[in-house]
Formats: sequence, C-alpha cells, structure tokens
Amino acid sequence: MCRDPSGAIFRARVRLIRTMPNNVVLKLGEKELTFPVVVGSEGEKAVDFRSLRAETGHITYDEGYGNTGSCESAITYIDGEAGILRYRGYPIEQLAEKSDFIETAYLVIYGELPTAEQRARFSALLTEHAPIHERMVYLFESYPRDAHPMALLGAMMNALSCYYPALATNDHKRDLENLDVAAAMALSKVRTITAITYRMSRGLPVIYPKRSFKYCENFMHMMFSDPYEHFECPPVVARALNLILLLHADHEQNCSTSSVRMVASSGANLFASCAAGICALWGPLHGGANMAVIQMLDEIHATGDDGSRFIANAKAGKSRLMGFGHRVYKNYDPRAKIIGKACEELLNTLGIKDPLLDIARHLEKAALSDSYFIERKLYPNVDFYSGIMMRAIGIPINMFTVMFAIGRMPGWIANWKEVASNPKGRIYRPRQIYTGKTVRDYVPVDKRG
Ligand code: CMC
Repeated sequence: MCRDPSGAIFRARVRLIRTMPNNVVLKLGEKELTFPVVVGSEGEKAVDFRSLRAETGHITYDEGYGNTGSCESAITYIDGEAGILRYRGYPIEQLAEKSDFIETAYLVIYGELPTAEQRARFSALLTEHAPIHERMVYLFESYPRDAHPMALLGAMMNALSCYYPALATNDHKRDLENLDVAAAMALSKVRTITAITYRMSRGLPVIYPKRSFKYCENFMHMMFSDPYEHFECPPVVARALNLILLLHADHEQNCSTSSVRMVASSGANLFASCAAGICALWGPLHGGANMAVIQMLDEIHATGDDGSRFIANAKAGKSRLMGFGHRVYKNYDPRAKIIGKACEELLNTLGIKDPLLDIARHLEKAALSDSYFIERKLYPNVDFYSGIMMRAIGIPINMFTVMFAIGRMPGWIANWKEVASNPKGRIYRPRQIYTGKTVRDYVPVDKRG
C-alpha cells in the first residue's frame, strides 16, 4: 500500500516473480529481492519476510492474520483443507477414542504421552492443587451474583498470580522452573473456580473437591453435590465430559491462543497470559459460539421454523449460522464429526429427546446442500453439537464457554511454555498501516467547531 499526494491509500503491485526450492524472489519496482522459504515438518511453506521492511521500507499487510504465520510451534497440526487435526502428531480421532482429557493434557503440555509413573505424578499434582486458596472464596462474594462466568473466570485466573506470586514472577526462567506446579494449578483450579461460580450464582454452598475423584467426576461433584447429598456422576457423563474437554485441548494459533502468546511474549506469567486467553475466548465468534448455537436453536424452535428461515437470513447476511464456518477448516471440522456422533449416542443412552438436536441435524443437512455454504466451504465446527451435549449433562448455557476454557487450558499452557522457553523469542509487536489524519497544527478551543 502507498499514499498518493492527497494522502489516500492505494495498492501498488508487488510481483512474486519466481519461487526457488529454498527462497522466493520478489520484484518491487525495479528492485529484486530474495526471501527464504520456511518449511514445516508437515511440508507447509511460508515466506520469511522478516527482513522486508529493513530492505524496502514495506511491511506485509494481512488484517486478521489469515495468511500470517506468527510463530513456529510443535504442539498442534491442522490441515484445514483435508480436515486433519493432530496434537503432538497424534490424530484427534485416536485420542478421542483411546485417551482421556488428563492424559491428553499431559501430551499437549509435555509433548509425549505419559508413562504410568508420569501420569500418576501429574494426577497427584492436579489433586493437590484442586482447592483454591480459602481467601479467594471471599473474592467471589464481591462480584454480582449474575456476573458472567467468563468475566469471573478471567478475573480469578489473573488473581492466581496474587495468591501464588512465587509461581508468577514475570521472569520466564524462574516461572519455567516452577511450571509443573503452576500448570497443575491452572488446569485443576480452573475447574474449581468454574464450579464455585456456578454454586454462588445460585446461592448454593460451595462444594470442595474430593481427593479420590478423577478430574471430570470431581468437577461434576463440585457442581452438583450438596453438603447433605452426594451427586453420583454416571460413567457415561464423565466420558462425555472427558471427550468435550479433550476435543478442545488445543487448536493451533486461534484468537485466544494467540492472545496467550502475545501476552506471554512480554514476559508475563502463566496465569496472566491464560487470563488474556479467557477474555479472547469469550466472544461469540470464538468460544462464545457454543452458547450462541443453543440460543440460535432455541430461537428457531420457539418460532416454529425448521431452520429454513434462519438459513435464508444467514445467506442474506442478516445473521450467521452459529457453529458453522471456520477460519482454517475448509472441510468438515474433525472435532464436529466426533462430537456430532457422541452427542447422538449420549442422548440415546440418557434417554433424552432434545428437539434442538433434530433442528441442528436439519440445519446441517440443509446448509450442506446449499450453494451459499458449499461455495464458501462452511461446515459445522466443534461448537455446533457441543452445546447440546453439555445441556444433556446439566451444564447451564451461560457456562458453555467456561467449559471450552477448561478444555483449552492445556493448549494455553503449552503455548505459554513454548514462548517462555524460546531463547530467541521477541516481544510480539505487529505493525499497522496508518489511515488517520496527516500532520496538522493544534487548534485552540475558541477556534474549533
Ligand atoms: N454463517 C453464514 N455465513 C458465514 C458464516 C456463518 N457461520 N461464516 C462465514 N460466513 C460467510 C461470510 O459472510 C463470508 O461471506 P462473503 O464472502 O459473501 O462475505 C464468507 O463466509 C467468509 O467468512 P469470513 O467471515 O471471512 O470468515 P472468517 O474466517 O473471518 O471467520 C468464523 C470464521 C468462524 C469467525 C466465521 O465462520 C463465523 O462467524 N462462524 C460463526 C461463529 C462460530 O461458529 N465460531 C466458532 C468457531 S470454531 C470454535 C473456535 O475455535 O472458536
């Protein structure tokens, strides 16, 4: 982009004149410049333009970062065209079938599936750090009862750095030395915080975690047990919850993970960085979509529409079909395939007949045969069915995005770790194309207007 004499922006042509095995030659005006090509372990390629500005005064322009590799990462691989998702090389389908959330969390954070001994140590750490600092319980009291659970979760995640300052020094070297404990705290307490938020919002007594329970059972216990009556979590519910969390464990450089990395790049501690991830996740185009899907399905149900009107509105640009489309997947989101099937199985096993599932199936079928959605490669994403599953296991709708945050915690921790351990890491600091006023002189107040 350049400016003409009137100050307006215009686009100038930069020609890519050839690519060679290890570099790319660009022609900018009369100048030819060579840039190296970076190739990832799955063969995906990027042109390394880091020296572009120093050599030419130009920057690359990519609003929304749709075509920008912001980092190198060894955690998650996605091929959006082929509908492939792998954590640390393991296909999501295999993990969904054979693993559980905690084992997968270990894999995402530490890079390998744990041995039995590593798994036992990890579980013990999670158990040890499940309760929150007793003073923190009072913090909840000072929030309005109807505060959004995502607002509370972000605040409480950040508050962990106040209660455990030795783990949150903002000196990455020191924070990395304590990462095992800090990671276990973030992963375990996020679930406790969520359950306390739920209990307090309903005026119910706080239920403390139980040492003998596994991660998901313990969450359901803290949510739904009472001091006088224990909630017995059916195994099918624990399995469903494990699956939901596992499928959300990481997803490459999405909005919230990029936010975590952005904050981490300044040297900030794990809790502060994850709090930023929680805030970014909240929006309806990201994690908030799972709530928005149910609201959409409810609305369709209430108006007696079978979805056709909603689809027509989406095509006319009046609304969006929530739970559909993805920046990276231009094929079926593999998580949506898994969760769609699991949702059906769960509802059948629990004997629940949810009219919203019928509407969702109908919407999916209609959208997948409609040229608007076909041309734009819009398929169901993970949020399309996850809400129906969460509803079936008793999670209230305003907590859906918080459930996503619990699931995404391993990914945020792993990405924080990658940033913090990168010896060549620099603070993330994109540039911009300025489109504001050009220089002008200060006007005294009596001369304005
Ligand atoms: N319904 C109707 N039209 C859509 C939708 C949708 N859900 N998503 C994209 N489009 C259209 C969009 O209007 C545009 O059309 P046109 O080319 O005529 O202007 C075209 O498809 C490309 O859309 P885009 O906005 O440029 O795509 P994006 O990559 O910027 O946005 C998205 C991706 C996920 C934000 C978007 O598809 C969307 O808003 N989906 C609904 C919200 C949702 O389900 N979000 C959850 C994402 S998966 C979980 C997560 O990781 O958070």
